Amino acid sequence: MAGSGTAHLRGGGALTVEHLTVEFPVGTSGDKVHAVSDVSFDLMKGETLGVVGESGCGKSTTGKAIMRVPPPTSGSVRLGAIDLSTLGADQLRDVRGRLQMIFQDPISSLNPRRTIRDIVAEPLTVRWLDGFPRYPAAQAWDNFTPAMLKLWKNKWLVLLTKIGLGVLLGGVLLYVVASAVGEPDQFGRRDGGAGADLANQIIRGGGLLLAPAAIVGIIGSAIWLLLVFLMIPFKIARSVLVAMEKKEFAKEVDEKVFTALEEVGIPAQVSMTKYPHEFSGGQAQRISIARALVLDPEIIICDEPVSALDVSVQAQVLNLLEDLKASRDISLIFIAHDLAVVKNISDRVVVMYLGKVCEVGQPDLLYSKPRHPYTRALMSAIPVPDPLVDPRSAEEIDGELPSPIHPPSGCRFRTRCARATEICSTAEPEIAEVADGQFVACHHPLDEKDWHLSERSVPVTVSSDLDGLLHSTTPEAPGGVK
Ligand SMILES: Nc1ncnc2c1ncn2[C@@H]1O[C@H](COP(=O)(O)OP(=O)(O)OP(=O)(O)O)[C@@H](O)[C@H]1O
Ligand code: SF4
Ligand SMILES: [Mg+2]
Repeated sequence: MAGSGTAHLRGGGALTVEHLTVEFPVGTSGDKVHAVSDVSFDLMKGETLGVVGESGCGKSTTGKAIMRVPPPTSGSVRLGAIDLSTLGADQLRDVRGRLQMIFQDPISSLNPRRTIRDIVAEPLTVRWLDGFPRYPAAQAWDNFTPAMLKLWKNKWLVLLTKIGLGVLLGGVLLYVVASAVGEPDQFGRRDGGAGADLANQIIRGGGLLLAPAAIVGIIGSAIWLLLVFLMIPFKIARSVLVAMEKKEFAKEVDEKVFTALEEVGIPAQVSMTKYPHEFSGGQAQRISIARALVLDPEIIICDEPVSALDVSVQAQVLNLLEDLKASRDISLIFIAHDLAVVKNISDRVVVMYLGKVCEVGQPDLLYSKPRHPYTRALMSAIPVPDPLVDPRSAEEIDGELPSPIHPPSGCRFRTRCARATEICSTAEPEIAEVADGQFVACHHPLDEKDWHLSERSVPVTVSSDLDGLLHSTTPEAPGGVK
């Protein structure tokens, strides 16, 4: 398949993603959408990692899989030394506060029926409620329910039940037919004779086959009922406890929400009682950031956080993220389409294609000396603010993005790559270091002579309307990560 391997991992990261794979089943055909396939990268403390690639390449799915919504099909995500896949629901809830996500469309990511105070307070409230002691009956319910559902879906139980139902139905039909054709007795009732006897035996056999499902159902329902009764007094006691401590908690939350809103530049005094529709897109995105900040996260995954905003508001939100990163020592994963934005904000960039990593490196190198043909095509698509450069000179990628259900063999980019050879269709390229800190997954990486192919090429001046509005073009890299 294009690009796997872990040569680009540096070790000791704040977040380490290894061999991450996410597949979605397609109906009942057995096919799968290979949304993310064997993706690895790491994020150092205080670093911003840009993730770029065309629509559908798996950027958002990667971000969500890190948050375990839904959990990945395979692979590991480590937050420091903690492997998230080994955590139970309770431990995961604790750790999730350290990882937060903000989304592309700020307005639709805020609940329109809740006030800004409640929206920003929500992560705190959920954590506070989780902090109340879990009573054993509720824990038993949480453990028992998935085990029970798994048993219900057990293929042998399902098969036995289907056969049992079939046999039962067959027996009933035979009984009806045998009784209909039998000789009537003196009262006019028809005796099915041997046919009816056989039908009775078949019906009994069907009943026996259905017995396991019936036993599972009866015992399961009895245990659920018992747990419900056991939970009632505990639930009442918990509600009383919550009500007693609510006032104190509400005061604490108000202070935290106030501080978070002010920190992102939203006047808290007048905004707490308002609703999302009363804010502009840029303000709504600031509110989303405040919601992410209240739990004091170490890492924020930003999924296209400025794509829905106009250029000047984009710059304000990007500057805000930069300021927060510096003041709170937060690490960012920055997913974006806009390559100019990614260049401006990232310390390291990961280029993805059809669920795979193609190239990883410092933005300056990637933009001026791309090694992967796909990276070069992406860079070539960046508008050049020079009237002498013909926009039609941008390198086009031939063909359509292949289906992620049946991705090409070998290198996934081979169906659109002008450099593809035999080996590209038979062997998946492993990611390898080609220059200091620059890693590429390609059998025939580009070199110096390929960077001078068009008038748009080296040095590529990545520029956009944003440039003048941002604090600086390239943020300082945290110690030792560049
Ligand atoms: N829940 C799902 N069920 C089935 N397929 C899905 C699901 N979520 C995503 N996909 C598929 O996985 C692939 C990757 O989707 P994803 O949203 O991660 O792409 P993306 O790179 O974020 O795209 P964009 O830039 O347009 O946001 C796509 O082919 C998409 O159709
Ligand atoms: S040269 Fe081969 S390995 Fe490299 S991107 Fe093209 S198809 Fe993939
Ligand atoms: Mg997306």
